[in-house]
Amino acid sequence: MIQAAPVTTLQARVAAAIAECRLLATMTEEPGRITRRFLTPPVHQVHAHLRSRMQSLGMSVSLDAVGNLRGLWQPPRSGKRLILGSHIDTVPDAGAFDGVLGVVLAIELVAIAQTNRLPLAIEVIAFSEEEGVRFGVPFLGSRAVVGRFDPSLLAVSDPDGVTVESAIRAFGLDPAQIESAALDPDAAAFLELHIEQGPVLESENLPLGVVTAIVGQTRCELTFHGRANHAGTTPMHLRHDALTAAAKWIVAVERFAANAPADSGLVATVGRVQVSPNAGNVIPGNVRVSLDLRAPLDSIREQALTRLFEDAATIARAGRVEVETKILMQQPAVSMDEELTAILADALEAAGFPLRRLPSGAGHDAMVMATRIPTAMLFLRSPGGISHHPSENVLEEDVTAALRAGEVFLTRMAAKLNP
Ligand code: GLV
Ligand code: MN
Ligand code: MN
Repeated sequence: MIQAAPVTTLQARVAAAIAECRLLATMTEEPGRITRRFLTPPVHQVHAHLRSRMQSLGMSVSLDAVGNLRGLWQPPRSGKRLILGSHIDTVPDAGAFDGVLGVVLAIELVAIAQTNRLPLAIEVIAFSEEEGVRFGVPFLGSRAVVGRFDPSLLAVSDPDGVTVESAIRAFGLDPAQIESAALDPDAAAFLELHIEQGPVLESENLPLGVVTAIVGQTRCELTFHGRANHAGTTPMHLRHDALTAAAKWIVAVERFAANAPADSGLVATVGRVQVSPNAGNVIPGNVRVSLDLRAPLDSIREQALTRLFEDAATIARAGRVEVETKILMQQPAVSMDEELTAILADALEAAGFPLRRLPSGAGHDAMVMATRIPTAMLFLRSPGGISHHPSENVLEEDVTAALRAGEVFLTRMAAKLNP
């Protein structure tokens, strides 16, 4: 039996959704900062909150073996299901909306579908991992959902030496069950709502954007192996300093990307450095650094990777140290599904908003889901173009616009999936 949600005004829904994102932001590993990595203790709190929200809408809720929380709304006479969702992990010292907003709005859209008595089955997925912060490898949640979770990932360890496998077990889940996280054969399409995380929509004074494609990305880890020794007694020419070599390479990375043709869209970032033994009076013996490389064209990203690895080898040789390179993840650029994107674009215009198409420089669960089912993405303007930062924000009027366009999209999907 359909349990129709109480009729709530759109304005109230919007205010509640933003407040809910702020509430979820208090569930953090670090008091005073929003940091919630894959399957860390505050994820239990987030699940408890979302579970009760989903249950209050009459959805059946389950937790799969990689920690994706999934809620299914299946009204009578519905057919294939629409999947909605985004991720609930964050970067360190994050904002309150990256990922979480897409989950909260997905639940709001279920409530809207219920109010409108749409014969549309909707599965909401709160993906457990998209950022790649804890293990250096992103999309752990969505990979399992599309059946692409390589078992070798279980052995990858975080900076504390905890493996993916033990993190899953410590959370109370069974890694042997990961295969059963795969999408139901009834899953027909995926839509992700997400903040833009960039300045384009704001610069054009637009509330919403429709994503055309998501740039490809490579994540790597390089370890410079030198020799730790006494900082006072070792002459400069007899040192094997891993940190000075790593530092020269980091500068080379920045220079290479900055000098690439602007239309290549290439960006390269070294965002994490781990120095060992990390003491002021010891020459650094080992340095681990991350590399995040992105470009719209896979060939440009692949050529850049080859060149940056060559540079690392040259710089290491010159510094009398060794370098080890490890590719943790390569995700090709993906286009969004043309037909589903046309339905979304049409819904946006029918709801009275101007249509702006734009590519995404950020990675999203949508890029993994797109390898399995037709996928589309809706962006909400990011005030100040800021994201991955505590001042990340969203405007009430844009959330209102997203729910309005979302409502039309649901109506069209109900007709398409359940003619
Ligand atoms: C995720 O936010 C990413 O693009 O790194
Ligand atoms: Mn995100
Ligand atoms: Mn992010």
